[in-house]
Amino acid sequence: MTTYEMQQEILRIKKEQNICILVHAYQTHDIWEVADYIGDSFGLTQQAAKSGAQTVIMCGVQFMAETVKMLSPEKKVILSHPDAGCPMAEQYDREMILQMREKLPDYHVVAYINTTASLKSVCDVCVTSSSAVQIVRALPYDKILFIPDSSLGSWVKAQVPEKQIELLHGGCPTHQRITAAEAQAAKAAHPEALLLVHPECRPEVTALSDYAGSTTGIMAFAKKSDAKEFIIGTENSIVQHLQMECPEKRFYPLSKDCICGNMRLTTLADVYDCVRGVGGKEIEMDPQLIAEARRPIDAMLQYGG
Ligand code: 13P
Ligand code: SF4
Repeated sequence: MTTYEMQQEILRIKKEQNICILVHAYQTHDIWEVADYIGDSFGLTQQAAKSGAQTVIMCGVQFMAETVKMLSPEKKVILSHPDAGCPMAEQYDREMILQMREKLPDYHVVAYINTTASLKSVCDVCVTSSSAVQIVRALPYDKILFIPDSSLGSWVKAQVPEKQIELLHGGCPTHQRITAAEAQAAKAAHPEALLLVHPECRPEVTALSDYAGSTTGIMAFAKKSDAKEFIIGTENSIVQHLQMECPEKRFYPLSKDCICGNMRLTTLADVYDCVRGVGGKEIEMDPQLIAEARRPIDAMLQYGG
């Protein structure tokens, strides 16, 4: 079977069975081509909730599939590859955050949406990479413990200096691999290019950027900009996608190492297995966990996330 034939089969089966395929922007182009929606983590979740399909396949990682299930508990949600986790989302557990809450009783806990449902259930409000600054500014409290990404947390802290923000160690190993020296070298090699980064990058890398935002934010910026060259500081799949969408512009990876092994686990063949009902992993969640983990997401929506 060729790639094209497999894609045609996936499209046929998903139409016949009314399946919605959500594809995170870090997936490869052959998977993009069978998507109903492509986007960043939370955008996809909202698309799934609006979709009339009863079965949703999430091509991404575990926390994304959990968030889809939390917002659409009546739907059957399948994660495209059973082992696709996220080391950042899973680096703390519920008990560790509960202990921190005891140590810092007058702090409210803000969680990046890229966390497990279990972690969300002990937090006050979630934020996305694009809404974090706006939401933290709008919160009616001044003392904040920001989890789990210290890079995104530092970025927020720099822009909301009026609040007392505590951070934990850790973050996304894929983005944190990029160093400021690499950013300076890339800028020197491409002096006309704008540097666009995800705020999961180290603060010293983000400080050198011309734009920092979510995956879809970076793509929208590059498409709209009049500039002709861009250095991309996020998962390297985005370099290829942008190059295909804007062939008249030039895109360079900030680092050859910015590759997420978990995001790259899913192949087109996995998606084919999922639509045939012989692959992926169905997300099962306890209704009480759904209710507890939804609370900070609803709070996020209330504050304009
Ligand atoms: P967004 O898709 O929200 O930009 O998050 C980036 C990421 O690392 C997803 O795994
Ligand atoms: Fe997790 Fe980072 Fe990979 Fe996203 S890119 S799935 S945050 S490890």
